[in-house]
Amino acid sequence: MSAEVSLPGVPLRAEEVTAGYGGDPVIRGISVRVQPGQVISLVGPNGSGKSTLLKSLVGVVRISSGTVAIGDREVTNLPPEEVARAGVGYVPQVDDVFAPLTVKENLEMGGYLLHHKQVAERIGRVLAVFPRLSAMLGRGAGKLSGGERKMLAMGRVLMLDPGVFLLDEPTANLAPKIATELLEEHVRGLATSGASVLIVEQRARAVLAISDRTYVLGGGEVRMEGTPAELSASPEFVDSFLGGGHSRTVRSAEG
Ligand SMILES: Nc1ncnc2c1ncn2[C@@H]1O[C@H](COP(=O)(O)OP(=O)(O)O)[C@@H](O)[C@H]1O
Ligand SMILES: [Mg+2]
Repeated sequence: MSAEVSLPGVPLRAEEVTAGYGGDPVIRGISVRVQPGQVISLVGPNGSGKSTLLKSLVGVVRISSGTVAIGDREVTNLPPEEVARAGVGYVPQVDDVFAPLTVKENLEMGGYLLHHKQVAERIGRVLAVFPRLSAMLGRGAGKLSGGERKMLAMGRVLMLDPGVFLLDEPTANLAPKIATELLEEHVRGLATSGASVLIVEQRARAVLAISDRTYVLGGGEVRMEGTPAELSASPEFVDSFLGGGHSRTVRSAEG
């Protein structure tokens, strides 16, 4: 990410969020805060409710109790386009780009809430943040590599100038080296440029290396939370997420 790009970070505050799909709640009483400039990560086994939490924050899954605020604005259960307007950029795990469209068309779609004349200017900024996309504007999104596709998905939400990014497993299916690069350069880069970033990841070791704080979900609840240093010093966390006690430092290897 180029250093001169500055993003307008906004705090996200979720308090005691309980949510689900109509039956019993899938997540219960989850509180998470993200400040501008921070990367906050969510880890946990499959089915623990990580994606459901992100969906509840963006109005895709209904919250039955609890609140979500973006800056001073409460957005609990607002429709997804209203949450987007309030400054939240959500990159889902799948269906993150329109494969039949070109890179440029995807970015234009990302700017659907903008005045026409803002679109070109915002595309210019996306290309400053993800220079790799510059040479690919006319290429079909379905023809990009996995890493390039994720950059496009993040670029697409960047079109609306979000203060908060919610990223659901951006490195799923990427080779370890590409995954680490994406996390260190681009995910951390969004926060370094000023945005608030909440990221779900399977690669615990790699995501701890770029996180300010990490929440561990289990069975729809927060089981542990702490700084990377605190969690790396927890035998329970190390056993569950860092593959046993053979590494004390989270930066020494990739997940
Ligand atoms: N659309 C849905 N309808 C009903 N239950 C769902 C739906 N999506 C996910 N779930 C259930 O919610 C639980 C948490 O899923 P999810 O949030 O996707 O977990 P994670 O992202 O941590 O793997 C799982 O038991 C899953 O079966
Ligand atoms: Mg998930």
